[in-house]
Amino acid sequence: MADQAEKLRELVRQKQQISVQDGVKCKIITVTSGKGGVGKTNLASNLSISFSMMGQRVLIMDADLGLSNVNIIMGIIPPPKYNLSHVLSGEKDLLEVIAHGPCGIRVITGAVGVPKMANMGTKKRKEFIESFDSLLSLFDLIFIDTSAGLSENVLAFIDAADEVILVTTPEPTSITDAYGMIKAMSAKNENVKVGLVVNRIKNIIEGKKVSDKIVNIAEQFLGLKIERLGYIMEDALVRKSVYEQSPFLVTYPDSKAASCISHIRNKLAGMEEEKHKEKGFFSRLFQGGRS
Ligand SMILES: Nc1ncnc2c1ncn2[C@@H]1O[C@H](COP(=O)(O)OP(=O)(O)O)[C@@H](O)[C@H]1O
Ligand SMILES: [Mg+2]
Repeated sequence: MADQAEKLRELVRQKQQISVQDGVKCKIITVTSGKGGVGKTNLASNLSISFSMMGQRVLIMDADLGLSNVNIIMGIIPPPKYNLSHVLSGEKDLLEVIAHGPCGIRVITGAVGVPKMANMGTKKRKEFIESFDSLLSLFDLIFIDTSAGLSENVLAFIDAADEVILVTTPEPTSITDAYGMIKAMSAKNENVKVGLVVNRIKNIIEGKKVSDKIVNIAEQFLGLKIERLGYIMEDALVRKSVYEQSPFLVTYPDSKAASCISHIRNKLAGMEEEKHKEKGFFSRLFQGGRS
C-alpha cells in the first residue's frame, strides 16, 4: 500500500510540474488490426519505449480486454496487483493502476480472461473512456493496445483516439481484415486519422506493395487518405524477445525490427511536426524532450 501511495504522490508531483508548462496536448494513439496476432502489442510496446527514450512521457494501456499481454511483452513480472479490471469494477481509478514499465514508460495492464471486460456495456464504456481525461495532463502520448477486429470496445477506443495505427501483415486474410476495419472506422468517423504499419515483411518491395494496395483501395472506395507509417521486417529476434519477456528495442536495439520501430517513430513524429508546427508539440521531441 505504501508504494501505491508513493506512486500517487509522484503522479501529483508530475502533474504540478506539467501544469506550469505551456499547454502541450496529450495524444492518444490507438493501435489496432483487423486480424489477430499481427504484431499490435509488440508494436505498441516498442513504440512506447522508443518515444520514452526521446524524453516523452508515455503511457501504454493494455485494452485488449480479456486477452491482455502487454505486461508479458514488457517483462513486468509479477503483473501489477491492480489492473483495468479493478477500474471497471469501480475498486480503483485509472491513476491508481498505473505501473512502471521499462525505460520510464508507464503501463496500465489488462486482465486475462475477465469476461466482463471483454463485454463492457455502452454506459460503462462511455464512462471508462471519459475517465481518460484524468490522464491527459500527465502524459505526452498514450498508446492504447486493443484487441483485433470489429467490436464495440475497439471502435470506442478508436473513437477516443487522436490517431489510429492499423497493423497488418502481408497475408491476404490480414489485408482483407484490415480493409474491413478501415471501412468500419470510416463509417463511424469519415475524418478518422489512420496510419498503416505493415509487419512481418520479407523486404521493402513486399511492404510497399501491401501498403499501396490498402492505401489505394481506401482512397478509391472510401475517399479516405491513409498515411503510410512504415514497415517492420520479419525478424526472429521479435519472437525471441517475446520468449525472453523483454521488448526487442531494449534487448536487441540493433535488430532489424528495432530499426523499423525507429523509422515509424520518426514518421509519426514528423507527421505531427507538420500538423502542429505552431504548438511545437513534437518539435520538443527532437530537441531532447522535456527537462
Ligand atoms: N516482425 C516480426 N517478426 C517476427 N515475428 C513477429 C513479428 N511481429 C510479431 N511477431 C510474432 O507474432 C506474435 C504475435 O505478436 P503480438 O504483438 O502479440 O500480436 P497481436 O498483439 O496483434 O496479437 C509475436 O509473439 C511474435 O512471435
Ligand atoms: Mg496483442
